[in-house]
Parts: sequence; C-alpha cells; structure tokens
Amino acid sequence: MRTPIIAGNWKMFKLLSESVTFVGELAPRLSALTSVERVVCPTYLALASVAEALKGSGIKVGAQSVHWEAQGAFTSQISPWMLQGLAEYVIIGHSECRAYLNETDETVNKKVKASLAYGLKPIIAVGESLQQNEAGQTQQIVGGQVRAALNGVDAANMANIVIAYEPIWAIGTGKNASGEVANSIIGGTIRATLADLYGNDIAQTVRIQYGGSVKPENMFEYMSQPDIDGALVGGASLKVNDFVQLVEAAAKAKGI
Ligand code: 13P
Repeated sequence: MRTPIIAGNWKMFKLLSESVTFVGELAPRLSALTSVERVVCPTYLALASVAEALKGSGIKVGAQSVHWEAQGAFTSQISPWMLQGLAEYVIIGHSECRAYLNETDETVNKKVKASLAYGLKPIIAVGESLQQNEAGQTQQIVGGQVRAALNGVDAANMANIVIAYEPIWAIGTGKNASGEVANSIIGGTIRATLADLYGNDIAQTVRIQYGGSVKPENMFEYMSQPDIDGALVGGASLKVNDFVQLVEAAAKAKGI
C-alpha cells in the first residue's frame, strides 16, 4: 500500500516565531498518527528553526521551492545542496511559482533532477487553469506537465517522487474538484502517464496528492478515492486543529 502523505504548504504565511510555536503545538497532536506521512513546508526564513523544533517528532520538513544549481551567483536563491539535512521534501512547480515567478516546465525539470541528486524528495505540482479546464484540455496539460517534469528522471528515482494534482481554479478559491473528478485525473491521467513512462508496476507505487481548497470537511471524500494518496494543503494547514483533522481523516479513509 502507498503510505498517505499530507503536506502543509504554508506559502508566505507565518512569522518565524509563529512557525516554531505552531509546530510545537502540532507535533504532540500528530505523534500517534504515524501511519500517515506528515510534512510541513514553512517559509525559508523559518525552515531551519522548524526543522530543529521537529527533530524526533516524525513530522517531516519540506521547502517551497529550490534552485537547480548547487552554488553560484544567483542572488536570492536557495540550492538543493544547502537544503540537505534540513528538508526532506521540496515543492517544485507550484502554480503560483509558474504564474508569478517564471517557473516553466523546463525549470521544473532542472529543479527535480537537482533535488534528487542531493537526496531531496520533490513534490511536483501540476494542474490546469480554469480556461484550460473549460476548453477540455485538462488531460493534455496535466499529462504534459508530468512528462516534462520527469524528462530524464530514471525509474529508480520514482520512489522518491510525489506528484500533487492542483487544479489552479481550485486553489484558495473554495471551489474544489469533487473527489471523483480529482481521482479520474490522478488515476486516469497522471498515473496512466507514469505507467506509460515507467511501466504499471512503478506507476502503482508513486504517491499522488490532490490539492486545492482541501479542508477537514472534504478530506475524507478525497482520501476515500483509490488513486488519491494524500493532499497538498494551503489554508487549512495553517491551523493546528484543521491539520490534525486532515491527518485523522486520511487515516480513517484508508483504514489505517
Ligand atoms: P489551498 O488549500 O489554500 O486552496 O491551497 C492549495 C495549495 O496551493 C497547496 O499547495
């Protein structure tokens, strides 16, 4: 069975002090729920302190992006080499980075390969816009983003990759895809693309999350779907009670 993975993407929220206080409250509440992998992705400013505060808790830390070079004249950037020992995961290709920070399929691919080379596990975010969705292009866009992100990534690395399907029209809007629709894209498009690239056996082992207005009230519906292995959560991951309920709902839905 694929171990469910719930990752909180805190985006540009929470001060350093708030981040540390938050995980101090969260960790004891999640300590018994070990059947679900739990990840928090704070801002870079808080990453080292959060990692320190979570030592021994079983909760993992993720970065929200990364550069593809190890070192160099890249003002403002953080490299995968620097993240070693601090973060286990890194979100790559989030639609907000694609929309506002010039992230492209090509930079996503470079970041995925660089992260793997330094032992980080990419959470690769893919998803279509409302316009693309309404034009019936979802499968083509999402399948294309998956293929581009994984260009040149060999099968042995697929155990270290998570994919997050985040339809852009569902992020922060309160308009979420139904469990059934999300499952059909995750199973029918993303997992099918992985099967085409790496064979069905490997495709069946890769964890694929849903993201976009996930909250305690709809989490059970998503996690009850056979191809959905977790969630990448923005807003609801900023509240301790909600975060705990998301993890509980995942464990309940998967019967673990
Ligand atoms: P919301 O859960 O706030 O819709 O954000 C989703 C997201 O972008 C997670 O990466």
